[in-house]
Amino acid sequence: MAHALIKSIAITAALASSTSALANPETQQLDKQSMALAKQFLGKLKPQLMHAMKNGGPVHALSFCNTKAPEIAADLSKSSGWHVNRVSMKPRGATATPDKWEIKALKHFEAEKMSGIPVKQMAYSEIVDMNGKKTYRFIKPIPTGGVCLACHGTHIAPAVQQKLHELYPRDKAVGYHIGDIRGAFSFSKTL
Ligand code: HEC
Repeated sequence: MAHALIKSIAITAALASSTSALANPETQQLDKQSMALAKQFLGKLKPQLMHAMKNGGPVHALSFCNTKAPEIAADLSKSSGWHVNRVSMKPRGATATPDKWEIKALKHFEAEKMSGIPVKQMAYSEIVDMNGKKTYRFIKPIPTGGVCLACHGTHIAPAVQQKLHELYPRDKAVGYHIGDIRGAFSFSKTL
């Protein structure tokens, strides 16, 4: 318990001094790979999501996100050898519930946003002990855009709401506004 507390203070201190810049020379190479992975994830998901929205509307696109987003994460995990995931303080997906490290980082990003730092510039990485294994962890917040509001906003159409309820009875991922931090990419790699 005492040990866990010391560790969590250490993480907070590291986060507090980071201003989200990835400035640790020890993790520079891994940071670069993480940024590339985040880009890849977005590049695979966003154009297809836009396409699905345009051609079938949000209810159709919901089914797409439901099956395709976890598939993309699994494919990327396989091809990279990393653990590739997305998390949120208000999770929807089955693997989106953040752990302690992720919660700390997400809260820190919220504080940074309040102080005027652009969400797009934020990212944080650290080498931590995970189940006795030296592990590199990376987290980068994802901002809410206009197109996201159909499924994550404050006014969800009844048909979308119904489908959401069907697919995610415990869904928390609504009520967002443009510019809010919707969640984050969270990657890890055992060293
Ligand atoms: C058509 C509906 C729809 C739209 C539009 C949409 N999402 Fe989602 N989003 C979903 C669904 C469904 C999931 C859950 C996927 C799963 O089961 O893993 C999800 C999950 C997420 C997650 C993972 C965390 C969580 O809570 O599961 C993030 C982050 C996210 N969306 C961000 C965005 C952003 C940013 C946009 C706009 C660019 C967006 N979404 C647009 C439906 C949508």
